[in-house]
Amino acid sequence: MPLSHDPSSLSPEPAHAAAADWWQTGVVYQIYPRSFADASGDGVGDLPGIIAHLDYLGPDGLAIDAIWLSPIYPSPGRDLGYDVADHTTVDPLFGTMADFDRLVEGAHRRGIRVILDLVMNHTSDQHAWFQESRTDPSGPYGDWYLWRDPAGLDSRGRPQPPNNWLSFFGGSGWTWDEGRRQFYFHTFLAEQPDLNWRNPAVPDVQMDMVRGWLDRGVDGFRLDVFNVFYKDAALRSNPSAGSHRQAWDRQLHIRDKDQPELEEFLARFRAELDSRPGRMSVGELFSGTTERAASLTVPRHLVFDFMLLQQPWSAAAFGAAIDRIERAFGPDRWPAIVLSNHDQPRPASRLSKDLGEAHRDAVAKAAAVVELTLRGTPFLYYGEELGLGDIDVPRDEAIDPPARRVGPEFRWWNRDGCRSPMPWTDGPNAGCAPPGVRTWLPLVPDARTRNVASQTADPDSVLSTERRLLRTRARLRPLHAGSLERIPADDPDVLAWLRAAGDERVLIVVNFAPRPVQTVLGSALGGTTWTPVDGTHREPGPAIGPERRVFLRPLEALIATEAG
Ligand code: NOJ
Repeated sequence: MPLSHDPSSLSPEPAHAAAADWWQTGVVYQIYPRSFADASGDGVGDLPGIIAHLDYLGPDGLAIDAIWLSPIYPSPGRDLGYDVADHTTVDPLFGTMADFDRLVEGAHRRGIRVILDLVMNHTSDQHAWFQESRTDPSGPYGDWYLWRDPAGLDSRGRPQPPNNWLSFFGGSGWTWDEGRRQFYFHTFLAEQPDLNWRNPAVPDVQMDMVRGWLDRGVDGFRLDVFNVFYKDAALRSNPSAGSHRQAWDRQLHIRDKDQPELEEFLARFRAELDSRPGRMSVGELFSGTTERAASLTVPRHLVFDFMLLQQPWSAAAFGAAIDRIERAFGPDRWPAIVLSNHDQPRPASRLSKDLGEAHRDAVAKAAAVVELTLRGTPFLYYGEELGLGDIDVPRDEAIDPPARRVGPEFRWWNRDGCRSPMPWTDGPNAGCAPPGVRTWLPLVPDARTRNVASQTADPDSVLSTERRLLRTRARLRPLHAGSLERIPADDPDVLAWLRAAGDERVLIVVNFAPRPVQTVLGSALGGTTWTPVDGTHREPGPAIGPERRVFLRPLEALIATEAG
């Protein structure tokens, strides 16, 4: 039995996903470009900043398989890049196309794939298409957006919206345009008008754009809110969903998303990617269930399901979520495993909320074991590997535009919290921007101690643990390619599961409680002995013998293989 999980005792080369099935066996790391590293000195992260940190992500660093970049296209920034003014190039804020090419080349040289965020449901209102559409209704772009006449006038003579559809960011989804004397529809901000996907020119131009990026070497795409592209052709109102706190939840969204025509477009989009080896996509299912995510999943094309991300830190909640995901996806569909992204509170803050700050790192490590050992492709959000917490941004200082429209009861309020600059060092601006520069959002308050440099030097830090776990995941085939079977434990705070690929089996046991536990696991383990090989703690706990009794330290999660 090894005395400690010294990374050098593991295989020196991470089993790097060079193969075409990397979308399934690999790990994706999401970068929020504004916050990763600022090379230009304007307080906002950029592509040269990312390039400067590729070694951190590459085989000698985290050894992830792909980076997903949140939008890098020109944008007025009303939704911080998710309002795109030109999908075919890079925002000067982030650099140039030459920088982009250097980034792709540098990433590929290190075995890292590059996934771009495609925002195709809507554009910025500053996009040339919308400007033309607004000013020239009978021109070539006149029908590219969802324009409609008013349903009538109210008692004061004001035009009434064509139906009851809402904006997710608050209020009606319809905005009146004085010039066209018509309403246009927007699922998000009024500055993000939705495209009219029923006009064949729209999917055509999107496919041209997709091909352009693929030709440039991009390995895949994350599809922003892809199930919203098509709306009911007759624009019928949504039926009521009864009383709920948030207006959005008071409607059944059966007319403003999830229309059957989506599948036709997906088939076309996916066929284009499939015609080029090694390409993949992941769709962001907006306001949908695990079952719906599973139904849209096919090989090479994952769909985010946010079930795990919505759970509190408890064995019962995670157990139920894992069971539901496994049931919905079945053995043949491959899930995407997500604990955080740029829209959600960070897991280190969220999951340790009830246990308290003292347990934050321990929860972050245990959550990392969960995320890296479930069946599916893990998507890590930058800073998650440091146990980074949320920052507190008062409402009147909020930068996230939707946070200015809606109150703290809004489920994405306030996304500034999870977008703070990446702390690299204990120096000025945590090394994320040159000294003296004001970063676009404040640093986390503990950046002096919680940063890449200090955590690299500490073998027990969240970062060192994550690096070790990533290598273990790559080394043990069942963890990145195997089936999953849940194993009962007789302690309610413990979850266990088995991963199996061929003859190889790996056991994962997680103690969700901040107290030591002793528990007996189910008989599916068989009469063998299991040896802990990795987990939250560097010093492994005792082997698990044929009596199947496990001893776990507070918040310990272990990964064990069969002795033999
Ligand atoms: C989903 C993205 O994740 C979110 O950040 C954005 O605000 C909306 N789509 C609108 O594009």
